[in-house]
Amino acid sequence: FNADEQTENYLFKIVLVGDSAVGKSNLLARFARDEFYPNSKSTIGVEFQTQKMEINGKEIKAQIWDTAGQERFRAVTSAYYRGAVGALLVYDISRRQTFESIGRWLNELQTHSDMNVITMLVGNKSDLKDAREVSTAQGRALAEEQGLFFIETSALDSSNVFAAFQTVIREIY
Ligand code: GTP
Ligand code: MG
Repeated sequence: FNADEQTENYLFKIVLVGDSAVGKSNLLARFARDEFYPNSKSTIGVEFQTQKMEINGKEIKAQIWDTAGQERFRAVTSAYYRGAVGALLVYDISRRQTFESIGRWLNELQTHSDMNVITMLVGNKSDLKDAREVSTAQGRALAEEQGLFFIETSALDSSNVFAAFQTVIREIY
């Protein structure tokens, strides 16, 4: 046994949450496979992918869970959150309603997960500049108020997708 060997096998569970069609599955597809689906279907139940990353010279495995935003497809809530150490709380910057749902998602996360889940508020679809309904300042203000990290991403043009996951994983580590 040595301490170095032990640290080589970290596995972190990270959950994606947010309303339907905010782009959770595409953020994961972009991060894990560098793919984007213009006509992706709503997730049914739960899917997950394991992604290797190197942080400070160590190999980290992130197990990223993606669930349906639509209530009728959602899996048993407590099982989904169990053991999660990180969370991406996603809204769509072009649909105000999805930003207004964030409080509810945060409440669910806090009810069902352990304390100290590293949580990142993610304003996705930053490429939709002309359709923007939530300003960057509004996103940042909510994050500050709730003690969350904050980033705007685009799964379509890739901007900040890697940074979003990497920041959460780095903070956990
Ligand atoms: P549920 O599985 O129903 O909860 O939805 P979801 O949050 O997983 O959304 P999904 O990734 O399926 O994306 C919904 C739609 O938004 C799809 O048509 C995607 O192509 C589109 N989309 C996702 N991310 C982006 C983005 O960054 N920019 C733009 N313009 N469209 C996006
Ligand atoms: Mg999905």
